[in-house]
Amino acid sequence: MIYLDNAATSFNKPNEVKRSVINAINTLTANPGRSGHDLSLKAGQMVFETRELLKDFFHAKMYDVIFTKNCTEALNLAIFGSLHEGDHVITTAYEHNSVLRPLFKLKEKGVFVTILDCDLVNLPKEIEKEIKPNTKLIITTAVSNVTGDVTHIKEIGKIAKKQKILYLVDGAQSSGHIDINLTECNIDMYAFAGHKGLLSITGVGGLIVKDIKKLKPIIFGGTGTNSESLIQPNDTVEGFESGTIPTIPIASLNAGIKFLTKNFSKITKYEANLSKFLYNSLKKLKFLKIYSNELSNNVFSFNVLDLSSTLVADILNEDYKICVRAGLHCAPLIHKKLGTLKSGAVRVSIDFFNTANDINKLISALTNIANH
Ligand code: ALA
Repeated sequence: MIYLDNAATSFNKPNEVKRSVINAINTLTANPGRSGHDLSLKAGQMVFETRELLKDFFHAKMYDVIFTKNCTEALNLAIFGSLHEGDHVITTAYEHNSVLRPLFKLKEKGVFVTILDCDLVNLPKEIEKEIKPNTKLIITTAVSNVTGDVTHIKEIGKIAKKQKILYLVDGAQSSGHIDINLTECNIDMYAFAGHKGLLSITGVGGLIVKDIKKLKPIIFGGTGTNSESLIQPNDTVEGFESGTIPTIPIASLNAGIKFLTKNFSKITKYEANLSKFLYNSLKKLKFLKIYSNELSNNVFSFNVLDLSSTLVADILNEDYKICVRAGLHCAPLIHKKLGTLKSGAVRVSIDFFNTANDINKLISALTNIANH
């Protein structure tokens, strides 16, 4: 089996991550932050350490890490937790439905939404043109989950800081694949998934926030703190994490981040080279229409002749045991821009467990499909 669907979730996990899951089941199943016994404190210590590891990994020493169940929940928290009636938000056609659907819901409640469909290279200056006195938030993905295009987050962060506008970045596809410096890029909120590039099991994501006071909780309940109060606390991360948090996924994220921290420069170099090799190999196939480019990061989309993307993905799966994703990838507006709203696109997404041999097998399978 060749797994080329890492943008959906990473399949191969380092041994350290696998071991951490067993270890957590055996030794960390108490509820962190609730009880005072040793086991609960030990789980709490691991959760605390994971927040610190994430802050180091994303160069975010002065930030807070709020755990959620996935990246979608983190984006919902950032969007519903910071926008009010009358606010204006600027975003892009590259966004996933986990940004677009919350925004369309808020549009019904009097939030004004501007969606830019320019190329990502021109995005900073297009954003600047759209800023109004009531612009409260800018939202961009760091890497498109359809084309692998990389956003100029540093330039956008500069604009946001200068104009005193909050900047939210969707880090679903960038995390663990490119070095993201939240402090240097002036990012106010960064949403991540654990189970993709950060190599954890599913069940944990998070929002890394510069100023928690600018956010309001969207889920209410027990936090293990201020229990005498019937008002939701909102001055510490616990106020945004009501209910029992996912200790075992967090333990696996802890191991994933440690693994990445140790190997990151090797991983990013390897993935950049493999991305280049993949793109150049796809380029040689004249029967492909490619929607990515030579700078795309780990994610590449294309169509084969006029075949439907789902048919190609099904053949790759059944006849060649190659796993890719087809369709719209939950990002309809970028497909509208690319003219692929009907056909969707075949998406190939790599990580550092993939090899040049995987790419060669994909290229040979695509050639066979086109010739039949
Ligand atoms: N958002 C994930 C993807 O792009 C699931 O495939």
